[in-house]
Amino acid sequence: MKKTGTSLVKLVNLPKITDDCTLVFVESNKHIPFAIKRVYYILDAAVNLSRGRHAHKKLRQILFCIRGSIKITLDDGEIKDEVVLSSPEVGVYLDKMMWHEMKEFSRDTILLIFASDYFNIKDYIRDYDRFLLYAKKNRKS
Ligand code: TYD
Repeated sequence: MKKTGTSLVKLVNLPKITDDCTLVFVESNKHIPFAIKRVYYILDAAVNLSRGRHAHKKLRQILFCIRGSIKITLDDGEIKDEVVLSSPEVGVYLDKMMWHEMKEFSRDTILLIFASDYFNIKDYIRDYDRFLLYAKKNRKS
């Protein structure tokens, strides 16, 4: 994973084969730094929809925009950053305790997300002030 400067943006580049089509592949614990336990995808979003706006206590994810484009904002409680994804082989790593928002969906955006664990509603932090407190506590311990 490549981290750009001091930013929060860690990009993941998958192998891409281009002959008469585009073929991108991904393997757990190799291209993705965890065992993939869940995959989900988001499509048919209204243009300029905003999603996310939460953090996870433990879950780690990598998000690929395999069609169209999207802006992802990242916030670890101290630093804020953002990245635009628009290539199917380039993903962004969403670490645990990373407040994130997905916005500026294009008409055709398809997001493909690989997650390190099964769905667990208790892992979500949806309140920003609670996230800031939890992040501060985590930094101290
Ligand atoms: P959420 O994670 O809030 O979506 P986003 O990050 O795009 O804003 O999930 C939206 C709803 O879907 C919520 O009710 C939980 C449900 N959901 C599952 O049941 N399983 C899943 O794997 C995911 C990602 C969401």
